[in-house]
Amino acid sequence: MIKIWLLLLLPFYLYATITMHFPIVTKINTPKAKAALYFAKRVKEISKGKMIIQVQFDTKLSDNQMLNILNDSKDIQILAPALNKFATYIPKLDFFNTPFLFKSIYKIHELFDPLYDKNILNYFKSNGFILLGVWDNGFTQLTSNKLIICPSDFKNTRVRVYSSKIAVNYMHSHGAIPINLPFRYLYTALKKSLIDTQINTLSNIYTTKTYTIQRYLIMLDYNYLGYGVVVNSSFWNKLSKTQKNIIKQAFKEATQKERIWAIVYETLMLKKLKEYAKTHNFKIITLSKKQKEIFTKDTLK
Ligand code: SIN
Repeated sequence: MIKIWLLLLLPFYLYATITMHFPIVTKINTPKAKAALYFAKRVKEISKGKMIIQVQFDTKLSDNQMLNILNDSKDIQILAPALNKFATYIPKLDFFNTPFLFKSIYKIHELFDPLYDKNILNYFKSNGFILLGVWDNGFTQLTSNKLIICPSDFKNTRVRVYSSKIAVNYMHSHGAIPINLPFRYLYTALKKSLIDTQINTLSNIYTTKTYTIQRYLIMLDYNYLGYGVVVNSSFWNKLSKTQKNIIKQAFKEATQKERIWAIVYETLMLKKLKEYAKTHNFKIITLSKKQKEIFTKDTLK
């Protein structure tokens, strides 16, 4: 009798779909958003429609609020917060907040290559995070109403930072006032002059429209902004090997594309910002090699 019931249930089991929610804080026209949509498309295709990722942009909850609940949440299965934001949970990762530490994105990719340095992957694992991999956005620039062309210009400037000892110490050591606030409030905080300066990538600066309320874009390549794409561990542990492999395969394909999109978006957004600067009270400042060196040496002191 039991066996007959099992047979009757089999079609439901075979055709049951798994839905994964993937909320992201950025707007749609960013490399992370584009990659998330492609990732969702490939998961659906490879699983023949049995696994669905629903991507949600411009979320109300901040990355930190979502990271706090990720591993037990029924509503969030995948997240891609900036690596800089993991410092709260994995203090050893705070080095991502060190200004001017990395010269090339390839060096960062190497850090996550299992053949190169297993430690970074283990930092995630031993802190309960299932890391699928890392997506790029790019190097960060500054937008400000105050011209910042040397480290001492940070003095008395209210700068938006992540929750990070390194970022806070750097700003304090230059007499700046670091203010930690979620991405969602950046525009309002700049508009209401609650902060003077943000540090962000060109695609985030463009899509949040924060450039429209700032006088300067200072091309500083301050630090790297990339994303740790993590999966809810209670959800992951319930998946079969086949289901995990579908996610891993789709993620691998999305990552290859994402890294190209990050470069394309950077070039495209700079072009758009240059166009805007031609007709508005908005100046793009490119520092000389010497001016940049002053920033770099100052960090290493
Ligand atoms: C993001 O790119 O996900 C947002 C980064 C930020 O909070 O500035």
